[in-house]
Amino acid sequence: MFGLNKTTKKFLDLKGKVAIVTGAGRGMGRTHALTLAQAGAKVVVSDISLENCQKVVEEIKKEHGEAIAVKCDISLKADIDNVVKVTLEKFAKIDILVNNAGIFPFQPFLEMKEQDFEKVINVNLKGYFLMSQACAKEIAKNPLNANGQRGSIVNISSIAALVGFAGLAHYCASKGGIMAMTRALALELAPLGIRVNDINPGAVDTPGASNTSMTEEQRKAMLAPIPLKRQGKDQEISNAVLFLASDESSYMTGSVMVVDGGWVIG
Ligand SMILES: NC(=O)c1ccc[n+]([C@@H]2O[C@H](COP(=O)([O-])OP(=O)(O)OC[C@H]3O[C@@H](n4cnc5c(N)ncnc54)[C@H](O)[C@@H]3O)[C@@H](O)[C@H]2O)c1
Repeated sequence: MFGLNKTTKKFLDLKGKVAIVTGAGRGMGRTHALTLAQAGAKVVVSDISLENCQKVVEEIKKEHGEAIAVKCDISLKADIDNVVKVTLEKFAKIDILVNNAGIFPFQPFLEMKEQDFEKVINVNLKGYFLMSQACAKEIAKNPLNANGQRGSIVNISSIAALVGFAGLAHYCASKGGIMAMTRALALELAPLGIRVNDINPGAVDTPGASNTSMTEEQRKAMLAPIPLKRQGKDQEISNAVLFLASDESSYMTGSVMVVDGGWVIG
């Protein structure tokens, strides 16, 4: 099940670290959780679907990793306070936050209702703000490591922050917001020893991406501008998450890592 290469596993060691991954019940979030666990982190698998979280925890435990499942809707402050509380009760600290949960319902702009726009912004942008704030307060309590740092936040944006996508005005706005917020948080949290970085994935084959209302023709058109001529695999994004979560990326903060098969250079 785990796709982490053995050399990477040896090099990127997260033993003793505690990581929270949002939207980890399926898709890329699941693979981020599995990957961080394989690198030795204790992982809090959170999602709106507790059942899916529990399945991921079982997968991690089968590989002798340590993890707990916590239901958390990142658009709700009460759920966020709860996931932080449960993490501290179980693992006593937080070192890593991976803000991954996101929704991308295709809707033509002229038909998009105010509530549609608000829903996407509430999950994709406000949720990242709330999770980052709640976790940063805890990460800031960790002792300094050899690099003078205390922990890392990894935000999952999208190439939708860099190029436009018809039918996704709300999503593009939210992902652009994540990228901009990453820079602001990186500045404010650097003095506290917390690094904040952003990953912009291109088209990745996940349950969420295949469940959209995109037609086969739209999908072909989407893949046409990708120089590497294929969709990404979730593990290819998780490898970037692992690097940014680990101390091996200790001189990176406020950066944008584009993992898109070359899409945006075309
Ligand atoms: N798949 C792609 O092509 C692609 C490309 C660029 C960026 N992304 C981003 O990557 C992230 C993961 O996408 P994916 O393709 O794996 O999606 P997915 O739909 O397969 O998985 C998303 C997970 O997030 C959970 N979720 C939804 N709303 C939530 C909420 N309010 N609180 C907590 N969890 C919630 C879902 O239950 C699901 O388990 C998203 O932020 C997405 O925008 C995806």
